[in-house]
Amino acid sequence: MSKGKILVTGGTGYIGSHTVVDLLENGFEVVSADNYHNSKASVMDGIESITGVRIVNHNIDLADATATAKLFEEHRFDGAIHFAAYKAVGESVEKPLEYFRNNLNSLMNVIDGLRSQGSSNLVFSSSCSVYGNADELPVTESTPRKEAESPYARTKQMGEDILYDFCAQHKDFNAILLRYFNPAGAHPSGKIGEDAANPASNLVPVITEVGCGKRDKLTVFGDDYDTRDGSCIRDYIHVSDLAHAHTLAVEALMAGGGSENPALYNLGIGEGLTVLEVINAFEKVSGKSLNYELGPRRPGDVVAVYADRSKATRELKWEPKYGVEDIMRTAWAWEEKR
Ligand code: UD1
Repeated sequence: MSKGKILVTGGTGYIGSHTVVDLLENGFEVVSADNYHNSKASVMDGIESITGVRIVNHNIDLADATATAKLFEEHRFDGAIHFAAYKAVGESVEKPLEYFRNNLNSLMNVIDGLRSQGSSNLVFSSSCSVYGNADELPVTESTPRKEAESPYARTKQMGEDILYDFCAQHKDFNAILLRYFNPAGAHPSGKIGEDAANPASNLVPVITEVGCGKRDKLTVFGDDYDTRDGSCIRDYIHVSDLAHAHTLAVEALMAGGGSENPALYNLGIGEGLTVLEVINAFEKVSGKSLNYELGPRRPGDVVAVYADRSKATRELKWEPKYGVEDIMRTAWAWEEKR
């Protein structure tokens, strides 16, 4: 018997598809809603080949209130995980309105949909970018959020605020906000991974694309930051570890909610790595030397951010299993397969 029917918005996307697999493997029924803005329908084959389940995806724009309301007329959900959003920091600087319109309307429409059927469980994809250039490292959930460095980051701060205000008014609505650090890597089966429709802009896929010759070279964005080698520091978390945290969050919501409402959790491995250290990890795992150059800073980047993840470990019982070399090994296997 299914543990519950979960709506995964952005279910064909990178983190979404890995989470769909984890939910199915843990006994949930899953329905996806994704308009393939930055994903491909072929991911369904990968999900099916890992789990034996062919999930249904509704190809709708969640920023469209009418289409979203219709989805909630067709299905009764026990909860939702809201991934669907635009996520490129640099692009958000160029197209702020598109980011606000898409990322905020879709969230509000999903909340409305859940309320319309008396459902009360929502997991929201937030981001470590809400911390901005934090005063303390590692950041804990109570580290104050600073000025957002990009419109993308601001949509995540605003999404969190919408849920704070909404839950304050509707005490029976339970939300968990997950602040992702830098998701990377691919499913260990090699059957799903990052397969964006748009050209990759995140570090790890750019590295593997350069490694296999799809791109000429990688530019390291900034070598004059105040860090141990001058490049930015991030916390890279394996996408399958991240996916499993969502299953644990859904289970916590279905058991009555987190330790506060909304409950907030950092999802990182708890270790900061520089861009150059990540490149080294790739070179070690692949045995290849990467063609890269040091270049100017990228607008919207923060200098350094990594997580204190002890709250997620304590309360959700979340223990990441993979490290940066596993990330590189699985990302590289996925790239070679593609
Ligand atoms: C940001 C957000 C993260 C979000 C992600 C979504 C922050 C702190 N984090 O990640 O929450 O999930 O966007 O896309 O804002 N880099 C290069 N060369 C490249 C690509 C990247 O040097 O070609 C560097 C970047 O400058 C950065 C690091 O690699 O220092 C990671 O970049 P990226 O993978 O794009 O993720 P973030 O921007 O950190």
